[in-house]
Amino acid sequence: MKVGIIGSGYVGLVTGACFAEMGNDVICVDNDEAKIDMLKRGEMPIYEPGLGDLVARNTADGRLAFTTSIEEAVDACMVLFIAVGTPSKDDGEADLSAVEAVSRKIAECMKEYRLVVEKSTVPVQTGAWIRRTLERYNPDGAEFDVASNPEFLREGSAIGDFMHPDRVVIGVESEQARTILLDLYAPLECLIVVTDIESAEMIKHASNSFLAMKISFVNAVANICERAGADVTQVAAGMGYDHRIGKEFLRAGVGFGGICFPKDLQAFRKIAESFGYDFGLLKEVEKINEEMKRLAVEKVREALWVLKGKTVGVLWLSFKPNTDDMRRAPAVDIINYLLEEEATVRVYDPVAMDRAKTILSDVTFCKDPYEVCAGSDALLIVTEWEEFANLDYAHVAKLMLTPILIDGRNMLDPDNMRELGFVYRGIGRATR
Ligand SMILES: NC(=O)c1ccc[n+]([C@@H]2O[C@H](COP(=O)([O-])OP(=O)(O)OC[C@H]3O[C@@H](n4cnc5c(N)ncnc54)[C@H](O)[C@@H]3O)[C@@H](O)[C@H]2O)c1
Repeated sequence: MKVGIIGSGYVGLVTGACFAEMGNDVICVDNDEAKIDMLKRGEMPIYEPGLGDLVARNTADGRLAFTTSIEEAVDACMVLFIAVGTPSKDDGEADLSAVEAVSRKIAECMKEYRLVVEKSTVPVQTGAWIRRTLERYNPDGAEFDVASNPEFLREGSAIGDFMHPDRVVIGVESEQARTILLDLYAPLECLIVVTDIESAEMIKHASNSFLAMKISFVNAVANICERAGADVTQVAAGMGYDHRIGKEFLRAGVGFGGICFPKDLQAFRKIAESFGYDFGLLKEVEKINEEMKRLAVEKVREALWVLKGKTVGVLWLSFKPNTDDMRRAPAVDIINYLLEEEATVRVYDPVAMDRAKTILSDVTFCKDPYEVCAGSDALLIVTEWEEFANLDYAHVAKLMLTPILIDGRNMLDPDNMRELGFVYRGIGRATR
């Protein structure tokens, strides 16, 4: 099948490369010329494990091409996915200007039947607006369908998630659109949930908000555990064995970040509001999440008393492991809180340093984790890079001015760390 993907970011590029790998002819479009030039040169604009090889193989085999021209994709491809960004406006509502601009451009170029699929995360009823836009700006009156196909991949494991999804959701309003999308996804041999467009749109916001709620719930439990002499890692494990609850997203820590959860939570609340419903629960989810970042800094303060003039090492910066994505990374807020207190901050990340340098100022960027620790009064782990759980912590303790370890992701064994001489503080783990 000939597939056009408009917006070649974390979602669009992975989607395009995976569809190509499945045997389709794919054109990935982006209006960022520098990004398209990089892709044409075989360079990756983002870090995502396995993506470089997938793109290289499919480009070499002639199944994957890149362009800045939406028209080229509309001419060549029967199915067009919109995968542009839908960032938050100041009030939390989703900014759909890129979705609108792309829909309008598709409309202007469409000469024969096209299936236009929203892949970006969009508020319910966006499909209806895309339909109106395609009708309004289409001089040739070409036939078309609109469909919704929300994406559930996670950065850091995006290719595996795309190729082996729990389910694919497609929202359609015609038999033709349904058949095309079922054919396109058939090679994945996975569960495909077919709904109307509005329900598919809602599934995405409801799912992300639910997952964010799970994280904030366990973080609230962590806050009680710490005061009550319990250990949230044991509590979460005990809860997670109940299949009605499940183990996933029950890890206490310094809060969620990234492009999706914070923005989708806010957008979902605004969507509810626009239909006259106050989804106050989501406000609480957000509030707990913000508090967790403050709590991380409070733990450093409890250990060091005055932060002014102290050196704090912060390890791993991206919002989650295996990605260079710094968008709304908890590390950024935490570091800024430390800087407000006039602490000196030393940082390192294996893949996100370049992006971090465009966001963070007044911090020292180190060449490895050990350089971060050297001369630090406290070390704060913000991102759970499991492969770094095996740092030589005995050496780390010796490098530090005072071996104080705040484990913001409960990655490490408290007893081991204490045996190595650390003052160890986790999240939701009572100090005995
Ligand atoms: N990143 C994730 O983990 C993830 C997962 C699921 C869903 N989503 C959703 O997918 C959408 C895209 O997210 P992303 O992380 O890939 O964003 P991104 O910022 O990485 O990519 C968006 C791309 O669209 C391009 N673009 C913007 N306007 C354009 C236009 N008019 N014409 C052509 N290209 C244009 C940008 O240059 C950028 O490369 C969002 O709605 C997001 O919420 C993201």
